[in-house]
Amino acid sequence: MAKVTTATIRKKKLDAEKIVMLTAYDYPTARLADQAGMDIILVGDSLGNVVLGYKDTTRVTMDDMLHHIRAVSRADTNAMVMGDMPFLSYHAGVADAVQNAGRIIREGGAGAVKLEGGAAFADEVRAIVRAGIPVCGHLGLTPQSVHKFGGHFVQGKTQKDAEQIMADALALQEAGVFALVLECVPRQLAGELTAKLRIPTIGIGAGNLCDGQVLVSHDMLGMYQGRVAKFVKPYANLGEQYAAGVKAYISEVKDGSFPDEAHSF
Ligand code: KIV
Repeated sequence: MAKVTTATIRKKKLDAEKIVMLTAYDYPTARLADQAGMDIILVGDSLGNVVLGYKDTTRVTMDDMLHHIRAVSRADTNAMVMGDMPFLSYHAGVADAVQNAGRIIREGGAGAVKLEGGAAFADEVRAIVRAGIPVCGHLGLTPQSVHKFGGHFVQGKTQKDAEQIMADALALQEAGVFALVLECVPRQLAGELTAKLRIPTIGIGAGNLCDGQVLVSHDMLGMYQGRVAKFVKPYANLGEQYAAGVKAYISEVKDGSFPDEAHSF
């Protein structure tokens, strides 16, 4: 399979072929996702919740992100590697945004960046794209604004909010994003956006009318013990398998049955 690029992603929308994206935060799981045929591997700032044990994504730093983006990039995937721009890495001005996006590409080895927010960040998006860096937008429930929202709630339920999301999506498209993540918005709104935009939409908790889907790997594989959202379908329960394996190891070491002859020199 050839390396997935922005051109591949754009073509998938034109060909009505679904785009599949999944998060990964390290070398082995990036390899597994790639071998399974993933289009885009997102090193999301959900890293903070599911790997680093932070309460929310506002704690995630550029150093946290770069450490994990580098690990994923070392997997040398055919999938596009997309790195999230963490909280405050693009809020203090256009120059700062370009520098930090550049670090994700140059030091992290990613092929694209993703940032949260709408028209208010159009200048930052334009400048990053001008530097030759593909940008994916992220609208709806944007977890870095959890304190503004007062929790994790579905966005765009009122006419006014839906119109705001539509205006933000058009502003991002005009600023040059190559794709747009829609998180926790009503299915119908996601469908209208998908029909109206030239760029592909990638939904999470946004129904089946988007051009693609993204999930957090630890949520959908049963590796996260915190609150898992209603839209997450459990495709595996690796947490249970992990615990069972570890329990068996403890018990066999304690009763002396491990290591047996087959596992000794
Ligand atoms: O950080 C992340 O994993 C994300 C996805 C939920 C889209 O932004």
